[in-house]
Amino acid sequence: MNYRTGGLLAAALLVTACGGGGGGNTTTPASGTTTNSTPVVSSTVADQSGNVGYEFSIDLAGTFSDPDNDTLTITTDFGGNARGLSLSGTVISGVPDSSGDVTITATATDPDGASISDTFTVSVTIDQSAIATVFGGSIDLENLDDFSGQPVPNYITKVNDGGNPITNAGATLGRVLFYDTSLSTTGTVSCASCHVQSLGFSDAGVVSTGVEGGQTGRHSMRLINTMFADETDFFWDERAPSHEAQESQPIQDHNEMGFSGQNGRPDLDTLIAQMEATEYYEELFRFVFLDPEITEQRIQLALAQFTKSIQSFDSRYDTGRAQVNNDDVDFPNFTADENAGKTLFMDNPNQGGAGCDRCHRTPEFDIAPNSNQNGIFRVAGSTTEFDLTNERSPSLRDLVGPGGSSNGPFMHDGSLATLRDVIDHYDDIQEPTSEPPLSDFLNTLDNRLIQNGNPQNLNLTENEKDQLEAFLLTLTGVSIYTDEKLSDPF
Ligand code: HEC
Ligand code: HEC
Repeated sequence: MNYRTGGLLAAALLVTACGGGGGGNTTTPASGTTTNSTPVVSSTVADQSGNVGYEFSIDLAGTFSDPDNDTLTITTDFGGNARGLSLSGTVISGVPDSSGDVTITATATDPDGASISDTFTVSVTIDQSAIATVFGGSIDLENLDDFSGQPVPNYITKVNDGGNPITNAGATLGRVLFYDTSLSTTGTVSCASCHVQSLGFSDAGVVSTGVEGGQTGRHSMRLINTMFADETDFFWDERAPSHEAQESQPIQDHNEMGFSGQNGRPDLDTLIAQMEATEYYEELFRFVFLDPEITEQRIQLALAQFTKSIQSFDSRYDTGRAQVNNDDVDFPNFTADENAGKTLFMDNPNQGGAGCDRCHRTPEFDIAPNSNQNGIFRVAGSTTEFDLTNERSPSLRDLVGPGGSSNGPFMHDGSLATLRDVIDHYDDIQEPTSEPPLSDFLNTLDNRLIQNGNPQNLNLTENEKDQLEAFLLTLTGVSIYTDEKLSDPF
């Protein structure tokens, strides 16, 4: 609203130019006596308000005029942050992308370089009234939780963000989607029904129960440190080619959240229409994507950003690892048994170790991308059907909770209840007695687990098994189990 005039300076320059013999001003009329008038502000622009995600536009055509009727050129200075606004011709427009003030100085300049400015402010706010009603204080778009800036230790080097890095806005939307039971046909099941925070985002059951009693074919997977891995395919059998591709499948799975479009069930388009009619999604999608459109891809991007932000790096293992240069040396904070267990985990069987690190690689404990199946060959809950396709494991971090009890049974079929059962499995991998055919079993078993043509037999002593178990217990973190930003916002 306050304006300053650049007219005096411009007029002085004009005089100099004439006195200097014209310079570039060769078209000046022969008389040389023409005087130029400075443009004026004919109607100052009042301060404006805008909303994140809503089109903003103001035409400055009537703001300035010129006593000589010169054609005026308008330029603008947006101060430090234009928040998505820009000038085209005489119109300032755009979709504001963040809240705060934009102080705009618009300047009109005539062909002789005389100019005048007008300054006004656009105050951009976020429309989140429905969010405030539904979530109380647990979601505040003006004050987002820090998902993207979580500390990652410098020894963590494997990263698979799939070209969709975490943003605080995207992960906040992902959090709402993750916990929203209205994303299931019965209104009773959310991602969190089968990925429980207090269980390392896994499930206590061998398999999980979705809508109308539907059962999953496999055990739920812990969603820990999924971003810190070389393996880019998801699910136990790696059938999803990316994190993002995975994320909308449970919603459309007939047995999980039910929007399958099969057997009379509604499909994903029905769900999207329902979400578009839900005010807090209108507000959230507008905030994150700057327009309210809801698509499968946007749901995938946001959910993947949230699940990627489930990061666990505050275990006793991490405390020790931070104090040494590599995993091969003893950790100062470990007991002798824990250090011995670490050595067993790292060393190959031909060195007297258990060779776990060949597939579950320190320090991320991600699965080696070339891993094949590990000798666990049953379909969950079945004693006859077999499944030799499972080649992925969640990170071996947080196998048990801080209290020491398992975060659900282990393996794709949930067949191993305890860490000791896991160690016993690898110590002496059992061949199938009937189905599957032995040749199929051996052909698909990872050859790192085959010795002289037979499934491996490590011959670990009971003491060595205790040590290996003690080491696995050090991989459990603390914060993910209670971290507010990873919790149910409803
Ligand atoms: C009814 C239970 C259930 C629901 C609901 C569910 N999941 Fe899962 N989730 C599972 C099971 C079981 C697996 C393993 C499936 C497999 O490998 O075949 C899994 C696997 C995953 C994986 C793969 C992890 C990895 O490391 O490969 C991700 C990611 C995941 N779920 C995220 C989600 C998200 C996001 C939602 C909500 C949109 C969701 N889940 C809803 C049971 C469920
Ligand atoms: C040849 C590669 C390979 C080696 C070596 C290996 N694993 Fe695995 N591990 C896998 C695969 C693949 C899975 C998932 C298989 C499944 O569920 O069918 C898995 C699953 C697991 C799981 C279950 C994880 C969960 O979330 O349920 C644990 C625990 C585990 N391994 C521990 C170990 C230990 C301890 C060792 C060493 C004694 C070891 N593994 C050696 C490949 C390997």
